[in-house]
Amino acid sequence: MATYIVLLGPPGVGKGTQAVILAQAIKLAHISSGDLFRGNIKNQTELGKLAKSYMDKGELVPDDVTIAMVRDRISQPDCKGGAILDGFPRTPKQAESLEKMLAEFGGCVDSVPYITADEAVLIERTSGRWSCRAQGHVYHQKFNPPKQAGVCDVDGSELYQRDDDKVETVTNRIHVYFEQTMPLVDYYRKLGKLIEINGVQPVEQVTNDLLAALRK
Ligand code: AP5
Repeated sequence: MATYIVLLGPPGVGKGTQAVILAQAIKLAHISSGDLFRGNIKNQTELGKLAKSYMDKGELVPDDVTIAMVRDRISQPDCKGGAILDGFPRTPKQAESLEKMLAEFGGCVDSVPYITADEAVLIERTSGRWSCRAQGHVYHQKFNPPKQAGVCDVDGSELYQRDDDKVETVTNRIHVYFEQTMPLVDYYRKLGKLIEINGVQPVEQVTNDLLAALRK
């Protein structure tokens, strides 16, 4: 049976960083809703234009288009064995839709690691983040610097700072997270699927805690 893991946590807590490592370690596909939107923006699709108008303000993209986009991704052959969902679901409606679509694929959400950190940590992490243009590899100017400033270690492409990582936009993203996504913490806790992980530790330690919790 396929395994589906939802990584929950506020903006900049390290979901994407951990999702990439976990996907390799436990051989699951990685689905990042933010990366899917950024791909659409790069390719100048209609969905990308719509998403950008919300993302630039730090608001959530409407549920219907977000759910359709993730549904399309999750039905791809590489997700047959399951996936790590990073950034989705983010609203109760998205969580309900996810359960329905996974039931169609013969699965369900198995576990929900919830990575935590306080606001000052989130601001420091997002304001120092650099991402690669080609494939979205993520660095941090202090915690995980590239070997050469401005250049991706993996594919040599240019590094850039996300438009929505400006402090005022991040502050709104955190506010939106508390208002619209926090209800999912209780939702998954009541289902017995939530696993709390301290995100204020070195990347390797967070990974160790995640892997230990998922093994249980
Ligand atoms: P999205 O791209 O999903 O952003 P997010 O959830 O706000 O998360 P981030 O990507 O900012 O952070 P992260 O937790 O992945 O941290 P990372 O590993 O990069 O969404 C962007 C926008 O798209 C949303 O605002 C919304 O508009 C839209 N959207 C996306 N999904 C949606 C949905 N489902 N519904 C509606 N709209 C949606 O790490 C951050 C930095 O910290 C990096 O520099 C990293 O190197 C560093 N770092 C990571 N871990 C550590 C550590 N342990 N110690 C020190 N540094 C660390």
